[in-house]
Amino acid sequence: MSLATDAAEPLETADTTNGPRHVAIIMDGNGRWAQMRGRPRLFGHHAGAKRVREIVEACPDSGVKYLTIFAFSTENWKRTQVEVSGLMKLFQRYITKEAKALSDEGVRVRFIGDRVRLNSKLVELMDNLETMTAHNDRVHLTIALNYGGRDEVARATKRLAQDVATGKLDPETVDEETLPRYLDTCVLPDPDLVIRTSGEARISNFLLWQSAYAEYEFIDTLWPDFTREEFARLTAKYGTRDRRFGAVAT
Ligand code: FPP
Repeated sequence: MSLATDAAEPLETADTTNGPRHVAIIMDGNGRWAQMRGRPRLFGHHAGAKRVREIVEACPDSGVKYLTIFAFSTENWKRTQVEVSGLMKLFQRYITKEAKALSDEGVRVRFIGDRVRLNSKLVELMDNLETMTAHNDRVHLTIALNYGGRDEVARATKRLAQDVATGKLDPETVDEETLPRYLDTCVLPDPDLVIRTSGEARISNFLLWQSAYAEYEFIDTLWPDFTREEFARLTAKYGTRDRRFGAVAT
């Protein structure tokens, strides 16, 4: 397929064999996008939600099987009550409106994060969408909602400790393969590529354990302006990288 390019980047062709299998995205910049238009922050979040569909649909063309998106962090509760409740309503509306299309397009949806603090109606919608799409395998979309990497590791450690306490797990056998089995992402491969939009070069507590060897792309585009062409360019660029996982080049 032909890809959009810009002055700084050569035109690259998507090589789906070398491309990332799992892309994770920190969707940042909705607030600034709205402010630049003199509109409230929630207007930016609604525009951002519309982008999700386009990027999910773009995954198969780039050979991306797993897409994980950061929708709401454990730190986002510190925002104003208006913004938090607006976002929660948006998530409910999104799930209700998009469920059929996602299901019809072969998308398997999962949620990661701590559900305890989310309202019961939202949790019910999340559970239903997971069940409804459980047989799909074209694209695996994981939505991180009330998710924090440290919180996830703490919750995983608690469950691991409980298994030790009840004799299900021998502490002598614990190694770096053990903890991931207790993480929310236990059924997912680690992300190969993490993209953050809006010019900030931080990972903000996203997939801390899982991203140990991920490649990162920090791009200036605000999330509501992020397009499938830019996604294709970044995934194609990933295919040109030399990933050594700590070994030397051969
Ligand atoms: C960060 O932008 C974005 C969020 C905290 C929310 C992300 C939510 C969406 C993209 C919409 C909904 C997603 C789904 C799955 C329906 P920001 O508000 O921090 O932007 P700023 O840095 O410009 O203020």
